[in-house]
Amino acid sequence: YANSNVYSYESVVKIAQFLLDRVPFTPKIGIICGSGMGAYWNKGSLAEALQNPIKFPYEDIPNFPISTVEGHAGQLVFGYLSDVPVMCMQGRFHYYEGYPLWKCAMPVRVMKMIGVTHLIATNAAGGLNKTYKVGDIMIVKDHINMMGFAGNNPLQGPNEERFGPRFPPMNSAYNKQLIRKAKEIATAEGLGDLVHDGVYTCLGGPSFETVAELKMLGMLGCDAVGMSTVHEVITARHCNMTVFAFSLITNMCITDYDCKEEANHCEVLDVGKLREGDLKHFVSKVVEYMAQT
Ligand code: 6GU
Repeated sequence: YANSNVYSYESVVKIAQFLLDRVPFTPKIGIICGSGMGAYWNKGSLAEALQNPIKFPYEDIPNFPISTVEGHAGQLVFGYLSDVPVMCMQGRFHYYEGYPLWKCAMPVRVMKMIGVTHLIATNAAGGLNKTYKVGDIMIVKDHINMMGFAGNNPLQGPNEERFGPRFPPMNSAYNKQLIRKAKEIATAEGLGDLVHDGVYTCLGGPSFETVAELKMLGMLGCDAVGMSTVHEVITARHCNMTVFAFSLITNMCITDYDCKEEANHCEVLDVGKLREGDLKHFVSKVVEYMAQT
């Protein structure tokens, strides 16, 4: 099988055990920090905010892939957020780095084997919905798996029943109660005007989209577009984890041929820095709520 997952169930258990042997607590919440959420080396980031942190650079974890994005931190951080034990991927693996989707998403299975029941996936995304503004937060209520349309899915290859079923449903991938609660939290914390819920789509990248592509995605019902998260969510739902995801809108998608601006990675990072404090606060409150459920 060209897509065969070389990470057997046993090899994922082994990675989880390596980590469990070195951490004196077992988190039930896993967080993937995207660009603008602490994926980059950054003192103020969410991953750096964890109390009593225990850090594992990816290259020190046996059998783990290595992050290749310039400036990406590339480590697992275990620690406490609002007194709740969590584990954090500071920097994720992207398809455009050359990893197959199952490899990009493998750390989600490591989380599962560690005992994580709730996944928070975050990312930076371009805003397609005209009512969004740069710096807004889009809670993901659904996704369009564009790469899946093209025949690419992290679950391709022989199915491992110990993780989940051959044909997992995706119609309730994003937990409705968490979406509702997160919106309440945002409003209570004064972030109500920034927060939307919408449909996310992932393209392979690394090139940004053309005007025609973005127009098409808008017509299809996508509110935000990025280069991650969908394959992680599919893998998390396959093994029955509860999922919450949100995008930081770091730029508005250009769907006008007369516009002279161009999408670039710097704005993605700058907006991340700008919203750092708000996002940390928002995630802490969501984690607090999750820990009670
Ligand atoms: Cl415009 N497109 C994609 N695919 N990812 C992004 C983005 C745009 N802006 C931030 N991330």
